Amino acid sequence: MSAKNNLLRRNERGMKIPHFDEIVLGDCTEILKDLPADCVDLVFTSPPYADQRQKTYGGVHPNDYVEWFLPKADQFFRVLKPTGTFILNIKEKVVDGERHTYVMELILEMRKRGWLWTEEFIWHKKNSYPGKWPNRFRDNWERLLQFNKQKQFRMFQEEVMVPVGDWSKTRLSNLSETDKTRDESRVGSGFGKNVSNWVGRNLVYPTNVLHLATESSNQNHSATFPRALPNWFIRLFTQRGDLVLDPFVGSGTTALAAIELGRHYTGIDISKQYVELARERISVAQIRLPHVAEHREKYKTIRKNGAIKGKR
Ligand SMILES: C[S@@+](CC[C@H](N)C(=O)[O-])C[C@H]1O[C@@H](n2cnc3c(N)ncnc32)[C@H](O)[C@@H]1O
Repeated sequence: MSAKNNLLRRNERGMKIPHFDEIVLGDCTEILKDLPADCVDLVFTSPPYADQRQKTYGGVHPNDYVEWFLPKADQFFRVLKPTGTFILNIKEKVVDGERHTYVMELILEMRKRGWLWTEEFIWHKKNSYPGKWPNRFRDNWERLLQFNKQKQFRMFQEEVMVPVGDWSKTRLSNLSETDKTRDESRVGSGFGKNVSNWVGRNLVYPTNVLHLATESSNQNHSATFPRALPNWFIRLFTQRGDLVLDPFVGSGTTALAAIELGRHYTGIDISKQYVELARERISVAQIRLPHVAEHREKYKTIRKNGAIKGKR
């Protein structure tokens, strides 16, 4: 391990954490062994979807995926704080005309190893273009599986509230008597609502479906997700000064989102090329962001020396 990667930093609570605010080159299973237990607030990551991108960064055969992933998940479990959250962006690929079941098998195995499968979010890719396949339609969504170590985890729902929308102008201006009390579902679903609770409110809680466009601006990595994706989950599950880990960091998108939001990050990738790309993207972002004061002087010097010339 290089001297740089071995740098020890302390978090706000005085805990010594290697790889704090660093992008590290290596296999995440091994690198994570350096970290102490219970030090990460959020693990947010998108691993290879089996061997879907074999040509760009390799992968694992779908039949071997669970076995490959579990030792990594064990490390995520160990480094995650008891009140922390693990968000796994994944989608099963089609093998031989069928959706493979490795994601479902992975969920079941992770539950056996102590994880709670708390929730599933959907990322709807709202800018997909049409296509034609003989036996299916355009794949337009991905899973974001939420896992926790315990039922009580930190969640800051107010941070992701959304505008109430135009429906409120008509619907809430003319309330019936039923609207003013809790109206139990008539189809016996067990759900009820009191519509009058929303009168006078500009913001409401979102659903578990995120409508975000994919990004093709970063052509140097074939599987970059939009920065808005980690941004949303970082706001929901962490606060300023917390530590966000992406063990398959690729081009560094999660780390960039963390920096923008005043969180610390640790990013790991097995590819030298992607580690360099992530580090460069972060260097450029840190020059732009005035709130990352501690990094500003460091990166001013790098810029003066011409290391990232013309990247502003
Ligand atoms: C889906 S991509 C991540 C893309 C990333 N979310 C972004 O926005 O750029 C998965 C990444 O995992 C990396 N990878 C594969 N196996 C790994 C391992 N064992 N440890 C760390 N990184 C790994 C690949 O090099 C690839 O960059």
